[in-house]
Amino acid sequence: MSTSKKLLRALAGETQATPPVWMMRQAGRYLPEYKATRAKAGDFLSLCYTPDLAAEVTLQPIRRFGFDAAILFADILLVPQALGAELWFVTGEGPRLSTIDEAADFDALKPADAVHETLSPVYETVKILSRELPPEVPLIGFAGAPWTVATYMVAGRGTPDQGPAHALKDAQPELFSRLIDRITAATVEYLSAQIDAGAEAVKLFDSWAGSLKGADFDRYALEPTKAIISALKERHPTIPVIAFPRQAKERYDGFAKATGADCVALDSDLPRDWAVEHVQRDGCVQGNLAPGHMVTGGQALIDETRAIVEAFRGGPHIFNLGHGITPDADPENVALMMETVRNA
Ligand code: CP3
Repeated sequence: MSTSKKLLRALAGETQATPPVWMMRQAGRYLPEYKATRAKAGDFLSLCYTPDLAAEVTLQPIRRFGFDAAILFADILLVPQALGAELWFVTGEGPRLSTIDEAADFDALKPADAVHETLSPVYETVKILSRELPPEVPLIGFAGAPWTVATYMVAGRGTPDQGPAHALKDAQPELFSRLIDRITAATVEYLSAQIDAGAEAVKLFDSWAGSLKGADFDRYALEPTKAIISALKERHPTIPVIAFPRQAKERYDGFAKATGADCVALDSDLPRDWAVEHVQRDGCVQGNLAPGHMVTGGQALIDETRAIVEAFRGGPHIFNLGHGITPDADPENVALMMETVRNA
Protein backbone atom coordinates (compact mmCIF):
# COMPACT_ATOMS: atom_id res chain seq x y z
CA MET A 1 0.00 0.00 0.00
CA SER A 2 1.38 3.40 -0.97
CA THR A 3 -0.08 5.49 1.86
CA SER A 4 2.11 6.73 4.71
CA LYS A 5 -0.86 6.47 7.08
CA LYS A 6 -0.07 3.67 9.50
CA LEU A 7 -3.71 3.10 10.38
CA LEU A 8 -4.76 2.61 6.75
CA ARG A 9 -1.84 0.23 6.17
CA ALA A 10 -2.97 -1.93 9.08
CA LEU A 11 -6.56 -1.88 7.81
CA ALA A 12 -5.28 -3.01 4.41
CA GLY A 13 -3.77 -6.05 6.12
CA GLU A 14 -0.15 -4.98 6.54
CA THR A 15 1.86 -6.34 9.47
CA GLN A 16 3.96 -3.49 10.91
CA ALA A 17 6.96 -3.43 13.24
CA THR A 18 4.98 -1.30 15.70
CA PRO A 19 1.21 -0.95 15.48
CA PRO A 20 -0.64 2.32 14.87
CA VAL A 21 -2.34 3.60 18.05
CA TRP A 22 -5.54 5.43 18.90
CA MET A 23 -8.01 5.16 21.79
CA MET A 24 -11.76 4.80 21.99
CA ARG A 25 -13.19 8.02 23.55
CA GLN A 26 -9.81 9.68 23.10
CA ALA A 27 -11.57 13.06 23.08
CA GLY A 28 -13.27 13.19 26.45
CA ARG A 29 -13.59 14.27 30.03
CA TYR A 30 -10.18 12.97 31.19
CA LEU A 31 -8.69 15.91 29.25
CA PRO A 32 -8.87 19.41 30.80
CA GLU A 33 -8.88 20.99 27.33
CA TYR A 34 -11.98 18.91 26.44
CA LYS A 35 -13.76 20.11 29.55
CA ALA A 36 -12.92 23.71 28.68
CA THR A 37 -14.30 23.41 25.13
CA ARG A 38 -17.35 21.56 26.37
CA ALA A 39 -18.05 24.35 28.86
CA LYS A 40 -17.88 26.80 25.97
CA ALA A 41 -20.43 24.74 23.99
CA GLY A 42 -22.78 24.46 26.97
CA ASP A 43 -24.02 20.90 26.79
CA PHE A 44 -22.78 17.73 25.14
CA LEU A 45 -25.24 17.77 22.21
CA SER A 46 -24.41 21.40 21.37
CA LEU A 47 -20.77 20.33 21.25
CA CYS A 48 -21.67 17.51 18.82
CA TYR A 49 -23.62 19.91 16.57
CA THR A 50 -21.17 22.85 16.56
CA PRO A 51 -18.66 21.92 13.82
CA ASP A 52 -15.82 24.24 14.92
CA LEU A 53 -15.95 22.99 18.51
CA ALA A 54 -16.49 19.33 17.60
CA ALA A 55 -13.47 19.56 15.27
CA GLU A 56 -11.47 21.24 18.04
CA VAL A 57 -12.09 18.44 20.57
CA THR A 58 -11.33 15.82 17.89
CA LEU A 59 -7.93 17.47 17.35
CA GLN A 60 -7.03 17.90 21.04
CA PRO A 61 -5.85 14.32 21.70
CA ILE A 62 -3.96 14.29 18.38
CA ARG A 63 -2.00 17.39 19.42
CA ARG A 64 -1.36 16.16 22.95
CA PHE A 65 -0.42 12.52 22.25
CA GLY A 66 0.29 12.16 18.52
CA PHE A 67 -2.20 9.34 17.91
CA ASP A 68 -2.14 7.63 14.50
CA ALA A 69 -5.86 8.27 13.93
CA ALA A 70 -8.53 10.76 14.89
CA ILE A 71 -12.12 9.73 15.56
CA LEU A 72 -14.89 12.11 14.69
CA PHE A 73 -16.44 13.71 17.77
CA ALA A 74 -20.14 12.83 17.77
CA ASP A 75 -22.33 10.18 19.39
CA ILE A 76 -24.10 7.01 18.30
CA LEU A 77 -27.40 8.44 19.58
CA LEU A 78 -27.48 11.26 17.01
CA VAL A 79 -29.00 8.80 14.51
CA PRO A 80 -32.11 8.10 16.64
CA GLN A 81 -32.44 11.85 17.14
CA ALA A 82 -32.21 12.40 13.38
CA LEU A 83 -34.95 9.77 12.93
CA GLY A 84 -37.19 11.87 15.14
CA ALA A 85 -36.62 10.50 18.67
CA GLU A 86 -36.28 13.00 21.49
CA LEU A 87 -32.73 12.89 22.95
CA TRP A 88 -31.24 14.57 25.99
CA PHE A 89 -28.40 13.87 28.43
CA VAL A 90 -28.82 13.89 32.20
CA THR A 91 -25.61 14.97 33.92
CA GLY A 92 -24.04 12.13 35.86
CA GLU A 93 -26.57 9.61 34.52
CA GLY A 94 -26.32 9.41 30.75
CA PRO A 95 -28.63 9.56 27.75
CA ARG A 96 -32.44 9.66 27.73
CA LEU A 97 -34.64 9.18 24.65
CA SER A 98 -38.34 8.95 23.91
CA THR A 99 -39.15 5.21 23.90
CA ILE A 100 -40.40 2.81 21.24
CA ASP A 101 -42.99 0.48 22.76
CA GLU A 102 -45.48 -0.02 19.96
CA ALA A 103 -46.14 0.33 16.23
CA ALA A 104 -47.36 3.93 16.59
CA ASP A 105 -43.97 5.00 18.03
CA PHE A 106 -42.21 3.35 15.11
CA ASP A 107 -44.61 4.86 12.56
CA ALA A 108 -43.81 8.34 13.88
CA LEU A 109 -40.13 7.95 12.92
CA LYS A 110 -38.79 9.73 9.85
CA PRO A 111 -37.57 7.87 6.75
CA ALA A 112 -33.87 6.95 6.60
CA ASP A 113 -32.90 9.56 4.03
CA ALA A 114 -34.35 12.35 6.19
CA VAL A 115 -31.46 12.01 8.67
CA HIS A 116 -29.18 14.39 6.74
CA GLU A 117 -31.34 17.32 7.80
CA THR A 118 -30.29 16.88 11.44
CA LEU A 119 -26.85 15.39 10.82
CA SER A 120 -25.43 17.87 8.30
CA PRO A 121 -23.40 19.73 11.00
CA VAL A 122 -21.56 16.44 11.60
CA TYR A 123 -20.57 16.32 7.92
CA GLU A 124 -19.32 19.89 8.30
CA THR A 125 -17.12 18.74 11.22
CA VAL A 126 -15.68 16.00 8.99
CA LYS A 127 -14.88 18.57 6.29
CA ILE A 128 -13.08 20.83 8.75
CA LEU A 129 -11.08 17.87 10.05
CA SER A 130 -10.08 16.71 6.57
CA ARG A 131 -8.45 20.12 6.14
CA GLU A 132 -6.94 20.47 9.60
CA LEU A 133 -5.63 17.04 10.54
CA PRO A 134 -1.93 16.37 9.98
CA PRO A 135 -1.48 14.57 6.63
CA GLU A 136 -0.40 11.31 8.28
CA VAL A 137 -3.48 11.14 10.55
CA PRO A 138 -6.65 9.70 8.98
CA LEU A 139 -10.12 10.45 10.30
CA ILE A 140 -12.33 7.58 11.43
CA GLY A 141 -16.06 8.20 11.06
CA PHE A 142 -18.48 6.07 13.06
CA ALA A 143 -22.01 5.07 13.93
CA GLY A 144 -23.66 2.70 16.36
CA ALA A 145 -24.58 -0.72 14.99
CA PRO A 146 -28.38 -1.20 14.68
CA TRP A 147 -28.83 -3.56 17.65
CA THR A 148 -27.00 -1.27 20.07
CA VAL A 149 -28.83 1.82 18.79
CA ALA A 150 -32.15 -0.06 19.05
CA THR A 151 -31.46 -0.98 22.70
CA TYR A 152 -31.37 2.76 23.54
CA MET A 153 -34.34 3.63 21.31
CA VAL A 154 -36.58 0.97 22.83
CA ALA A 155 -35.62 1.51 26.48
CA GLY A 156 -35.15 5.28 26.24
CA ARG A 157 -31.87 4.95 28.16
CA GLY A 158 -28.89 2.69 28.76
CA THR A 159 -29.83 -0.59 30.46
CA PRO A 160 -27.54 -3.14 32.12
CA ASP A 161 -29.11 -6.16 30.38
CA GLN A 162 -30.88 -4.55 27.38
CA GLY A 163 -34.08 -6.07 28.80
CA PRO A 164 -36.62 -3.83 27.03
CA ALA A 165 -35.08 -4.46 23.59
CA HIS A 166 -35.00 -8.22 24.21
CA ALA A 167 -38.65 -8.08 25.32
CA LEU A 168 -39.75 -6.18 22.19
CA LYS A 169 -37.81 -8.45 19.81
CA ASP A 170 -39.38 -11.54 21.44
CA ALA A 171 -42.94 -10.18 21.77
CA GLN A 172 -43.14 -8.26 18.46
CA PRO A 173 -40.41 -9.62 16.18
CA GLU A 174 -41.89 -8.03 13.07
CA LEU A 175 -41.98 -4.54 14.58
CA PHE A 176 -38.49 -5.00 16.00
CA SER A 177 -37.13 -6.09 12.60
CA ARG A 178 -38.65 -3.02 10.98
CA LEU A 179 -36.87 -0.86 13.57
CA ILE A 180 -33.56 -2.64 12.90
CA ASP A 181 -34.07 -2.17 9.14
CA ARG A 182 -34.81 1.55 9.56
CA ILE A 183 -31.68 2.08 11.67
CA THR A 184 -29.65 0.04 9.15
CA ALA A 185 -30.80 2.21 6.24
CA ALA A 186 -30.24 5.44 8.22
CA THR A 187 -26.75 4.28 9.18
CA VAL A 188 -25.82 3.63 5.55
CA GLU A 189 -26.98 7.18 4.71
CA TYR A 190 -25.08 8.68 7.64
CA LEU A 191 -21.78 6.83 7.14
CA SER A 192 -21.89 7.33 3.40
CA ALA A 193 -22.21 11.10 3.93
CA GLN A 194 -19.31 11.03 6.41
CA ILE A 195 -17.19 9.27 3.76
CA ASP A 196 -18.24 11.80 1.11
CA ALA A 197 -17.17 14.57 3.50
CA GLY A 198 -13.72 13.01 4.00
CA ALA A 199 -13.77 10.17 6.56
CA GLU A 200 -11.08 7.65 5.53
CA ALA A 201 -12.32 4.67 7.54
CA VAL A 202 -15.52 4.00 9.48
CA LYS A 203 -16.30 2.04 12.63
CA LEU A 204 -19.54 0.40 13.77
CA PHE A 205 -19.96 0.24 17.55
CA ASP A 206 -22.05 -2.74 18.64
CA SER A 207 -21.46 -2.22 22.36
CA TRP A 208 -24.23 -4.62 23.40
CA ALA A 209 -23.67 -7.38 20.81
CA GLY A 210 -22.68 -9.70 23.68
CA SER A 211 -26.26 -9.94 24.96
CA LEU A 212 -27.47 -11.59 21.72
CA LYS A 213 -27.30 -15.38 21.51
CA GLY A 214 -27.55 -17.93 18.72
CA ALA A 215 -29.88 -17.02 15.85
CA ASP A 216 -30.56 -13.61 17.46
CA PHE A 217 -26.88 -12.76 17.14
CA ASP A 218 -27.01 -13.62 13.44
CA ARG A 219 -30.26 -11.74 12.84
CA TYR A 220 -29.60 -8.56 14.83
CA ALA A 221 -25.81 -8.18 15.10
CA LEU A 222 -24.20 -10.00 12.18
CA GLU A 223 -26.77 -9.42 9.41
CA PRO A 224 -27.27 -5.65 9.90
CA THR A 225 -23.50 -5.15 10.12
CA LYS A 226 -23.07 -7.13 6.91
CA ALA A 227 -25.83 -5.15 5.18
CA ILE A 228 -24.28 -1.81 6.17
CA ILE A 229 -20.79 -2.85 5.08
CA SER A 230 -21.91 -4.18 1.71
CA ALA A 231 -24.01 -1.07 0.98
CA LEU A 232 -21.10 1.20 1.96
CA LYS A 233 -18.62 -0.76 -0.16
CA GLU A 234 -20.95 -0.61 -3.11
CA ARG A 235 -20.91 3.19 -2.89
CA HIS A 236 -17.29 3.55 -1.72
CA PRO A 237 -15.38 0.41 -2.81
CA THR A 238 -12.13 1.22 -0.98
CA ILE A 239 -13.49 2.36 2.39
CA PRO A 240 -12.13 0.24 5.26
CA VAL A 241 -14.62 -0.73 7.97
CA ILE A 242 -13.90 -1.63 11.60
CA ALA A 243 -16.59 -3.67 13.39
CA PHE A 244 -16.83 -3.86 17.19
CA PRO A 245 -19.14 -6.68 18.34
CA ARG A 246 -18.28 -6.07 21.98
CA GLN A 247 -18.37 -9.10 24.28
CA ALA A 248 -19.40 -11.42 21.45
CA LYS A 249 -17.09 -14.09 22.91
CA GLU A 250 -16.86 -17.10 20.57
CA ARG A 251 -18.91 -15.24 17.93
CA TYR A 252 -15.83 -13.13 17.23
CA ASP A 253 -14.68 -16.22 15.31
CA GLY A 254 -15.61 -15.71 11.66
CA PHE A 255 -17.20 -12.26 12.23
CA ALA A 256 -14.90 -10.45 9.76
CA LYS A 257 -15.49 -13.00 7.00
CA ALA A 258 -19.24 -13.13 7.59
CA THR A 259 -19.71 -9.35 7.59
CA GLY A 260 -16.98 -8.14 5.22
CA ALA A 261 -15.33 -6.04 7.96
CA ASP A 262 -11.68 -5.15 7.32
CA CYS A 263 -10.88 -5.11 11.02
CA VAL A 264 -12.52 -6.40 14.17
CA ALA A 265 -12.14 -4.51 17.45
CA LEU A 266 -11.55 -6.78 20.46
CA ASP A 267 -12.91 -6.07 23.93
CA SER A 268 -10.67 -6.56 26.97
CA ASP A 269 -12.19 -9.88 28.05
CA LEU A 270 -11.20 -11.81 24.95
CA PRO A 271 -8.19 -14.09 25.57
CA ARG A 272 -5.40 -12.85 23.33
CA ASP A 273 -4.07 -16.22 22.21
CA TRP A 274 -7.56 -17.23 21.21
CA ALA A 275 -8.02 -13.94 19.32
CA VAL A 276 -4.77 -14.43 17.42
CA GLU A 277 -5.87 -17.88 16.32
CA HIS A 278 -9.57 -17.22 15.67
CA VAL A 279 -9.80 -13.54 14.67
CA GLN A 280 -6.45 -12.17 13.51
CA ARG A 281 -6.24 -15.25 11.27
CA ASP A 282 -8.79 -13.50 9.03
CA GLY A 283 -7.26 -10.00 9.05
CA CYS A 284 -6.62 -6.90 11.10
CA VAL A 285 -7.58 -6.74 14.78
CA GLN A 286 -7.80 -3.74 17.07
CA GLY A 287 -7.54 -3.64 20.86
CA ASN A 288 -7.55 -4.72 23.64
CA LEU A 289 -6.01 -2.98 26.66
CA ALA A 290 -8.37 -2.78 29.66
CA PRO A 291 -9.33 0.91 30.13
CA GLY A 292 -8.66 0.64 33.87
CA HIS A 293 -4.90 0.73 33.15
CA MET A 294 -5.34 4.35 32.09
CA VAL A 295 -6.43 5.08 35.64
CA THR A 296 -3.86 2.97 37.51
CA GLY A 297 -0.80 3.24 35.23
CA GLY A 298 2.59 2.09 36.53
CA GLN A 299 4.43 -1.13 35.70
CA ALA A 300 1.18 -3.04 35.17
CA LEU A 301 0.29 -0.67 32.31
CA ILE A 302 3.74 -1.09 30.76
CA ASP A 303 3.69 -4.88 31.08
CA GLU A 304 0.18 -5.25 29.69
CA THR A 305 0.85 -2.86 26.78
CA ARG A 306 3.98 -4.83 25.84
CA ALA A 307 2.13 -8.15 26.14
CA ILE A 308 -0.56 -6.93 23.72
CA VAL A 309 1.94 -5.67 21.15
CA GLU A 310 3.81 -8.97 21.46
CA ALA A 311 0.70 -11.15 21.16
CA PHE A 312 -0.51 -9.53 17.93
CA ARG A 313 2.91 -8.88 16.40
CA GLY A 314 2.55 -11.64 13.79
CA GLY A 315 -0.27 -9.97 11.87
CA PRO A 316 -2.09 -6.71 11.19
CA HIS A 317 -2.88 -4.93 14.48
CA ILE A 318 -4.08 -1.52 15.67
CA PHE A 319 -3.29 -0.82 19.31
CA ASN A 320 -6.35 0.43 21.24
CA LEU A 321 -8.28 -0.07 24.44
CA GLY A 322 -10.93 -2.77 24.79
CA HIS A 323 -13.55 -0.06 25.50
CA GLY A 324 -13.64 3.73 25.98
CA ILE A 325 -11.21 5.57 28.26
CA THR A 326 -12.99 6.70 31.44
CA PRO A 327 -13.24 10.26 32.83
CA ASP A 328 -11.03 9.36 35.85
CA ALA A 329 -8.09 8.34 33.61
CA ASP A 330 -4.78 10.20 33.97
CA PRO A 331 -3.43 11.77 30.74
CA GLU A 332 0.10 10.89 31.98
CA ASN A 333 -0.81 7.21 31.68
CA VAL A 334 -1.93 7.73 28.09
CA ALA A 335 1.46 9.28 27.31
CA LEU A 336 3.17 6.31 29.01
CA MET A 337 1.11 3.85 26.95
CA MET A 338 2.05 5.69 23.71
CA GLU A 339 5.73 5.66 24.56
CA THR A 340 5.56 1.95 25.46
CA VAL A 341 3.85 0.99 22.19
CA ARG A 342 6.23 3.04 20.07
CA ASN A 343 9.27 1.47 21.76
CA ALA A 344 7.91 -2.08 21.97
O1 CP3 B 1 -14.38 7.86 20.75
C1 CP3 B 1 -14.48 9.08 20.60
O2 CP3 B 1 -13.70 9.90 21.13
C2 CP3 B 1 -15.53 9.62 19.64
C3 CP3 B 1 -16.74 10.09 20.22
C4 CP3 B 1 -17.71 9.11 20.82
C5 CP3 B 1 -18.55 9.45 21.91
N1 CP3 B 1 -19.43 8.44 22.11
C6 CP3 B 1 -18.49 10.72 22.64
C7 CP3 B 1 -19.14 10.83 23.95
C8 CP3 B 1 -18.06 7.80 20.43
C9 CP3 B 1 -17.44 6.90 19.37
C10 CP3 B 1 -19.16 7.41 21.25
C11 CP3 B 1 -19.85 6.11 21.10
C12 CP3 B 1 -20.96 5.78 22.00
N2 CP3 B 1 -21.86 6.61 22.57
C13 CP3 B 1 -21.31 4.46 22.33
C14 CP3 B 1 -20.64 3.21 21.81
C15 CP3 B 1 -19.33 2.94 22.45
C16 CP3 B 1 -19.39 2.60 23.89
O3 CP3 B 1 -18.88 3.41 24.68
O4 CP3 B 1 -19.93 1.52 24.23
C17 CP3 B 1 -22.41 4.53 23.19
C18 CP3 B 1 -23.12 3.34 23.83
C19 CP3 B 1 -22.77 5.90 23.31
C20 CP3 B 1 -23.93 6.46 24.06
C21 CP3 B 1 -23.49 7.38 25.11
N3 CP3 B 1 -22.95 8.63 24.89
C22 CP3 B 1 -23.54 7.17 26.50
C23 CP3 B 1 -24.05 5.91 27.17
C24 CP3 B 1 -23.03 8.33 27.10
C25 CP3 B 1 -23.01 8.67 28.57
C26 CP3 B 1 -21.99 7.91 29.31
C27 CP3 B 1 -20.92 8.84 29.75
O5 CP3 B 1 -19.74 8.48 29.58
O6 CP3 B 1 -21.27 9.91 30.30
C28 CP3 B 1 -22.61 9.21 26.08
C29 CP3 B 1 -21.98 10.52 26.25
C30 CP3 B 1 -20.69 10.76 25.56
N4 CP3 B 1 -20.39 10.40 24.27
C31 CP3 B 1 -19.57 11.44 26.10
C32 CP3 B 1 -18.60 11.50 25.09
C33 CP3 B 1 -17.25 12.17 25.14
C34 CP3 B 1 -19.50 12.07 27.46
C35 CP3 B 1 -20.26 13.36 27.34
C36 CP3 B 1 -19.81 14.46 28.25
O7 CP3 B 1 -18.93 15.25 27.85
O8 CP3 B 1 -20.41 14.53 29.33
